[in-house]
Amino acid sequence: MNPQDRIIFPLDLPTEKEALDYAALLSGNVGLFKIGLELFLECGPSIVEKVRRAGAADIFLDLKLHDIPVTVERAVSRVADLGVRFLTVHCGESEAMLKAAVAGSEGKVGILGVTVLTSVGGDDIRKAGFLPQYAEDLKQLVIKRAVMANTCGCAGVVCSGHEASVIREAAGEGFFTVTPGIRPAWDGMKCDDQKRVMTPAEAIAGGSDYLVIGRPIRDAKDPVAAAAQVAEEIREGLAARA
Ligand code: C5P
Repeated sequence: MNPQDRIIFPLDLPTEKEALDYAALLSGNVGLFKIGLELFLECGPSIVEKVRRAGAADIFLDLKLHDIPVTVERAVSRVADLGVRFLTVHCGESEAMLKAAVAGSEGKVGILGVTVLTSVGGDDIRKAGFLPQYAEDLKQLVIKRAVMANTCGCAGVVCSGHEASVIREAAGEGFFTVTPGIRPAWDGMKCDDQKRVMTPAEAIAGGSDYLVIGRPIRDAKDPVAAAAQVAEEIREGLAARA
């Protein structure tokens, strides 16, 4: 895998035209385009094929499914024929739901478990009725869910860069960690609304396989040059791993 193949660029854009313009512009510089709920609901499933036609990169459908197992299985089987590389499913509910998602994928799409949303804090977890040990140390809950996702046959999980190395140790090679909240060193570590950020080099050196990186590339004067610089930082992170 080339360093740039580890970049996931979210098409967080309000219109089909803007999304397709960015897909065409960046297709040679990132590994995957992430289509989230906003764009998917605005344009419908046909957006997947349109993004694919705009460039050569793979597609990650970030729908964060969560329902009874049979409903999730049937929904995933609809996605399986869209030809995307990854699809997200919440992994907070049950093993049965994750296994159903994997069954519905028919091996055609990798299921990524969403462990704990970064918008959730210890207090939310306590109020939601979880054991105090998880409210005090959310990382333990993230790891528990990642191990569950691995056991159920998921391709990987979405997690922060702070958890990637422990998950890698617990789940082993070949189980992907996908990390958002990335801010390149040259971007001045601007946080926007992300709380615990890392540079691309730090996240990759720590064991993340793929990085979701949006605004630092999207809002750069030259998005192609920004993506190339991120790839360079990923190269440094990989060298630090060895
Ligand atoms: O790099 P930037 O902050 O712009 O990336 C935002 C993208 O990352 C959004 O598509 C968002 O859904 C995704 N994301 C996130 N935090 C998570 C999971 C995904 O920001 N914990």
